[in-house]
Parts: sequence; structure tokens; C-alpha cells
Amino acid sequence: MPVACRGSALEKQGKEIIHLEIGEPDFATPSNIVDAGVDALHMGWTHYGPSAGLPDLRKEIAEYVMRTRGVPVTSDEVVVVPGGKPIIFFTMLTLVDEGDEVIYPNPGFPIYESMINYLGGRAVPIRLREERDFALDVKELAALITDRTKLIILNSPQNPTGGMLARKDIEEVARAIGDRNIMVLSDEIYSRLIFEGEHFSIMTVPGFKDRTILLDGFSKTYAMTGWRMGYGVMRADLAAHMTRLMTNSNSCTASFTQVAGIQALRGDQSSVDHMCSEFKHRRDIFVAGLNKIKGFSCRMPKGAFYVFPNIAKTGWPSKKLADALLEQAGVACLAGTAFGAFGEGYLRFSVANSLENLNRALQWIEGWVGKNLR
Ligand SMILES: Cc1ncc(COP(=O)(O)O)c(C=O)c1O
Repeated sequence: MPVACRGSALEKQGKEIIHLEIGEPDFATPSNIVDAGVDALHMGWTHYGPSAGLPDLRKEIAEYVMRTRGVPVTSDEVVVVPGGKPIIFFTMLTLVDEGDEVIYPNPGFPIYESMINYLGGRAVPIRLREERDFALDVKELAALITDRTKLIILNSPQNPTGGMLARKDIEEVARAIGDRNIMVLSDEIYSRLIFEGEHFSIMTVPGFKDRTILLDGFSKTYAMTGWRMGYGVMRADLAAHMTRLMTNSNSCTASFTQVAGIQALRGDQSSVDHMCSEFKHRRDIFVAGLNKIKGFSCRMPKGAFYVFPNIAKTGWPSKKLADALLEQAGVACLAGTAFGAFGEGYLRFSVANSLENLNRALQWIEGWVGKNLR
């Protein structure tokens, strides 16, 4: 049973659960964006729109990506979709045939591996190692590339580890790919939630714009997970293909949502900065607290809103420990193995909860560990 469902079942029995399994900001969507969405509904943005997205939003996104990634982008290279996830789905449908190899981060967002397997591709994990602060090792990556490699997936800042790829790492990845006919899906959905260092996209590396499908969106940056809106930026011929997939699947992203998206990109950005500094503060406190608990050791994540402690010294497998923390300590988190086999030995906690709850969760975990682990 998924952790969230088991958590609700326990809550129905009267148990209190602190939810740290959640992958979405606990902040409300900023009010200027909500107002724009409500106004759009009243103004009649309640019908189908173009499959690739409203022209004004595509233009706004093109300008945003030019500003933030420093590459020229035109509207016909932008496809707006309901959330970031469809870009993963459509990229795989577009590029991966049976037997094609796709290199993907592990531990990583589980959708990558699932989609590769679904399409009969060969899922080739690149292990993210704690000793490298969960940035991939480019030498290991280079050794995984073969003549059958079709696609490499990068994700920075990363879910579930909070690791980041520095500019230097990404430039080395680009060198390792060289002039091979390999595409890169660069999942940059957490690009605005960075605590240390700067975001750098492989799209910015000379020669890589046409070989990159950039995934970004509104869910995490503007706390808009339920609005369902994300986008991909890619070569115009690929964008036309993904637009056909949109026509055949969703028809379009909800029109009023897209009008609110224009406001999100154009309007005041202070709520993004506020959310990011809150997450940073909570991260500092939660990581320090975890590091005081016997058997836990936790690196400082550089971005996103997850922490990924090593729990190997507890002697418990990840899933068993996550289940016990939920059932007996009242703290919901995810086993590292929910993110792939190399997640064994880790748990993922989200800091998208109040400081008060994070502190209580630390106490409850510590209390449970004191009673159950010797
Ligand atoms: C790495 C990563 N990519 C993509 C997504 C998808 O985001 P959305 O909710 O916009 O589909 C998520 C959401 O958790 C994520 O963690």
C-alpha cells in the first residue's frame, strides 16, 4: 500500500501522522497567480486551446528559458503540457524503441525507469553516490555509453537526494557524449529551488541545444502541483511531434491554468525566493537533527526540498525502517528503494512541512530509535 494511503488509514484509526513523504511544496500558490486563474475563468478561458499551449505562454516560456539558460529559444520550440511528467512520457514515446538503452539516475525519480521498461528499452542506471554528494561520476557515465544508447537523463537539483550537477560536471558529461547521436532529457523541475551553487543546464553547452529536451514547469517553483502545468523545450521538429502526442492524449493543457502561468512567469517572484529560503532553513534544522540520531547520517542537500539520510548503520533495510517509522513512530517518509535499487540504505524525507512538525518528527524518530535500536 502506498505510504500516503497507509498514513490515511492510520489517521482514520485516530493515530497522528507527520507527513514527510510528500513531494510538493506545503505553501499556497501565490495569490497573484490564483487571482489570474480566477479572472481567467470569469473571462471565459474555459475552452480548448492549441495543443502546444497558448501562444502568449509559449512566448513567455521561450523568453524565460533564454534568460535563465542563456540560449536563443523560439515559441515553436516550446510545448506546454499538464505537468512536468508528460514531458518524460512523451520524450520516451518519441525516442525509445525496443532494445534502446537509456541511462538514468538511480536513485532517481521512479517514472524514468518505469517508462523505459514499459517501452521495452534497456534501463541502464547510473549510480548516484553519497560520497560525491549524489552528483553522478562522469567516468562511470562514460563507461555506460554504448552504440545503443539513445537517451541520457539528467536531473539537477535531484529528487530524491537533493544533489546537484555543477557546471563543470555538466560540461564533462557533454564531453563524454561528444558528437554521438544521443539525446539528453534534462529534468530541471527544481531549478529554482537551489540553496548552494547555481543552476546550469546542459542546454547551455555549445552544440547541445539541439540535443537537449529541457523539462521544467510550475509545480514546484510556484507551488502549483494541482494546476497541472509544465513544459518541454526542444528542437522544433521534436516539438511538433510532442504536440501531436498532446493532440492524441490530452488535447491541451487547461486554458485558465495557462493564463495563470503567464502571470507566474511575469509577476512578482518574491514568493519563490521566500519559499526557497524557508526550505533552506528547514533543511538546515532537519539535517542537523537527523545527524544526532543514532544510526542516521545525512549530507546537506544543495537543492529541491528533500533530505536523504544514510540509515545503513541502523542495520535495518530501508523499506522495513520506513514502514516501522510510519506504523510505530507516526512519521511518514519514503524508503530509498522507492527510487531504485541503489536507494537501499537510505530514506527520503521531504521538508515541505512546518518547522514545528519537522522538530516533532525528529523527536518521534529519536524516541523510536532509542527504544528499538541497540
Ligand atoms: C524530478 C521530477 N521530475 C518531474 C516531476 C513531475 O512534476 P509534475 O508534478 O509537474 O508532473 C517531479 C515531481 O515530483 C520530479 O520530482
